[in-house]
Amino acid sequence: MEQKRRYYEAYEERYRQVHEEGLQWSSDSPSEIVGQVIQKYGITKQAQMLEIGCGEGRDAAYLLKEGYHLLATDLSGEAIAYCREKYSDFRENFCTLDCLNERLEQKFDFIYAVAVLHMFVLEEDRSKFYQFIGEHLKENGIALIGTMGDGKMEVCSNPEEAFTLQRRTHGQTGREMMLAGTSCRVVSFDTFRQEIHSAGLKELEMGLTSILPDFPTMMVAVIKAEK
Ligand SMILES: C[S@@+](CC[C@H](N)C(=O)[O-])C[C@H]1O[C@@H](n2cnc3c(N)ncnc32)[C@H](O)[C@@H]1O
Repeated sequence: MEQKRRYYEAYEERYRQVHEEGLQWSSDSPSEIVGQVIQKYGITKQAQMLEIGCGEGRDAAYLLKEGYHLLATDLSGEAIAYCREKYSDFRENFCTLDCLNERLEQKFDFIYAVAVLHMFVLEEDRSKFYQFIGEHLKENGIALIGTMGDGKMEVCSNPEEAFTLQRRTHGQTGREMMLAGTSCRVVSFDTFRQEIHSAGLKELEMGLTSILPDFPTMMVAVIKAEK
């Protein structure tokens, strides 16, 4: 019997649709905030790093080329195959992982997830995301979470419509394309804070950043496991 697709798998569909046109969905520009947090918290090149939801690999590629020890993961097999081919020197560093339903044996000094949390619309999925982070941080490890939002607005898409085609403009070419809508839940700073706290995690800092050209306004939090 065919298994029902889960709403947060819709990005797989979008990547396939875009790759079939010989294009990629995201830019190649790394998120400045990732480098800034690495610098600020003194994360060294010996640190074990994990990316959750690496997509087409813009942040992972930058860090791997800089010599960091990174395992870059995504639920989407299409995205991981794309990264392995595009960044073939680092193919072993990319692997599929569903952070809501799978576990790794290793723990990490630094975990980051850029523009992944907002994809999780259901309460239980958001809790599982934080839980995954808590379970995979080393004792003094930290995590950076970037999620869409301006800190005030709260909106939520209908998960039933994640695969419904929507007209979207392709960033690099300006082409109009009909693509899987995917899912989005934007929360305020207050909700973000409450979620972090309820998951037994500690907020070290929270604010807004701009990840250009992909995400002009993004909320970010640096967190650690509560002792
Ligand atoms: C908006 S994209 C962001 C990709 C990349 N981080 C970036 O900033 O370009 C969200 C990514 O989260 C991935 N994703 C969705 N659900 C996931 C899950 N359960 N586990 C891991 N990755 C997931 C999607 O496949 C997609 O690549």
